[in-house]
Amino acid sequence: MSKSGEALALLRAGAGGAPVELGLILGSGLGQIAELVEGVAFEYSDLPGFPVSAVSGHPARLVIGDLWGKRVIVFGGRMHYYERGQADAMRIPLELLRALGADRVILTNAAGSFRPDIPPGELMLISDHINFSGLNPLIGEETDARFVNMTNAYCPDMRAALSAAAMAEGVALKSGIYSWYSGPSFETPAEINALKILGTDAVGMSTVPEVILARFFGLKVAAISAITNMAAGLGSEHISHQHTKDMAPVGAAKLARILERYISTTA
Ligand code: HPA
Repeated sequence: MSKSGEALALLRAGAGGAPVELGLILGSGLGQIAELVEGVAFEYSDLPGFPVSAVSGHPARLVIGDLWGKRVIVFGGRMHYYERGQADAMRIPLELLRALGADRVILTNAAGSFRPDIPPGELMLISDHINFSGLNPLIGEETDARFVNMTNAYCPDMRAALSAAAMAEGVALKSGIYSWYSGPSFETPAEINALKILGTDAVGMSTVPEVILARFFGLKVAAISAITNMAAGLGSEHISHQHTKDMAPVGAAKLARILERYISTTA
């Protein structure tokens, strides 16, 4: 049996028969939502083929179970490209999500903002992305399915429903374009200036490869950034991973309200 087949069997056995409806991938410092799931937790290290991320602020664990009335898998952390130079690090988790029955995934991340009207502590709904890394998780994929259409990659219906959920909760949720920078070093102010000219609203080190993989597997996608800082050169705070971990929980509290409203009210 393939590694993903073995992991799938373990997840199915551990979680009972009911199909999963949706997946949630939590970004740096956004892990608290995983604690609300009533279900079974799996350490990534116990799942064959699973990428075991070792970034502080990212629990290397998933929980499969019930959250706000839906059957979900919440991935407490993700493997980043910058950990091992693998753009397809999240391929097996997304493949398994699909295999377990999910038709959609919501990705979250911590990001630096370019927009004074979306300051640290606020959230941004991603409307589209710029793959500034030039990397692609489907390089090496041999089937014609690799030619993924990325127009409307961020599902318009999910975006509308998430915006409505934010409005109902009284939480500001502006939309914008996210650019993927490989990391792990942060960007230079000159790079931020270049990204700004290209039309970036927020920058981060994740999400884009996962969106490409999720579309490849036929999942509908939405993504929300928790803004932890102004991007390099645009603000006065000292940018660091510690600052990201300290600031992400401010956005996480609002994110949880939006997700609760969205998950409990959508079919
Ligand atoms: N750049 C890249 N990734 C980030 C940032 C940033 O400014 N803030 C949080 N994650």
